[in-house]
Amino acid sequence: MSRLGLGLAAVGRPGYITLGRSNDLPAERTPAALSARATELLDTARTGGVRYFDVARSYGRAEEFLARWLEERRVPRQTATVGSKWGYRYTAGWAVKAPVHEEKELSLDRFTSQLAETRALLGDWLDLYQIHSATLESGCLDDESLLRALLRGRGEGAYRAVGLTLSGATSAATLERALEVRVDGERVFDVVQATFNCLEPSLAPSLARAHDAGLGVIVKEVFANGRLTDANERPEDAPLLARLRAVASGISLDRLALAFALTHPFVDVALSGAATTTQLASHLAALELSLDETTRRALRAVAEPPERYWATRSRLRWT
Ligand SMILES: NC(=O)c1ccc[n+]([C@@H]2O[C@H](COP(=O)([O-])OP(=O)(O)OC[C@H]3O[C@@H](n4cnc5c(N)ncnc54)[C@H](OP(=O)(O)O)[C@@H]3O)[C@@H](O)[C@H]2O)c1
Repeated sequence: MSRLGLGLAAVGRPGYITLGRSNDLPAERTPAALSARATELLDTARTGGVRYFDVARSYGRAEEFLARWLEERRVPRQTATVGSKWGYRYTAGWAVKAPVHEEKELSLDRFTSQLAETRALLGDWLDLYQIHSATLESGCLDDESLLRALLRGRGEGAYRAVGLTLSGATSAATLERALEVRVDGERVFDVVQATFNCLEPSLAPSLARAHDAGLGVIVKEVFANGRLTDANERPEDAPLLARLRAVASGISLDRLALAFALTHPFVDVALSGAATTTQLASHLAALELSLDETTRRALRAVAEPPERYWATRSRLRWT
């Protein structure tokens, strides 16, 4: 299984938070145009050996775009693994500028209704079903009826694995709790998906523990939504980019960022959120890269306090 996966958050809907969308997406972000872009990315990924594909109910029509591609390309069942997420409902109505783009509810009702919607699109392709951005304060990790339903879905073959994704500066505490969750002695979670990059590496110890406990570890936002790329034009990030270029010795920053994530043995899959096939080709090329200890140390030194990282992320505009 390639250690690179492909996530469709940036191309499943017209609006999202990555930095260069006005340059990188089709001028007209119609469903047909974004479906075509998703198909190009999926074809390039598959040719490049990628086998894990990540979507969500809230990524607009990403599940539909993926389902159509699997069908049209007659992808053999054992050559692709599909993960989706429940919890957020897409509320932007295919608009780039919407008052609210997604609304979250981590309840048994939301799980039940969204599982039916996801299965209606992906059917038996659904391998991994993840709680979308689980938090302690949502109560989902202490909701016994919900946890039983997650296990029942796995037991009945609605999906093969139960997962959770994490967001925010409190992710470590949520993950520690998730590792303990049992129903009648049976562990609930098989996979954790979490943000991990050289700006926000704070989850490394918890993810290593999860990996040692037998959970699959998927890392997301490896490029910090575009901040760790040469296309980043945020004035506030100029000092950061200068430091990264000083250690990059000519390697493109996106490849440096991905190679950093892949130097960590607990990472099973790192997600590319590429919006173009050129970006994806660059990410695929990073799989060949290995970073020496001097470069790794220099990249560890750019880490931000998690609170600052997540505050910056929360201010990224939906475009
Ligand atoms: N809570 C959750 O569960 C959650 C949250 C976030 C993401 N995810 C998953 O993780 C995946 C990746 O996350 P993400 O897309 O938010 O973040 P990301 O992978 O860190 O950033 C991807 C973006 O960075 C920019 N980029 C990457 N390589 C580039 C290059 N070589 N040159 C120029 N720009 C480049 C592109 O944005 P532009 O083209 O727009 O510049 C691209 O869309 C998602 O698709 C989703 O599957 C899950």
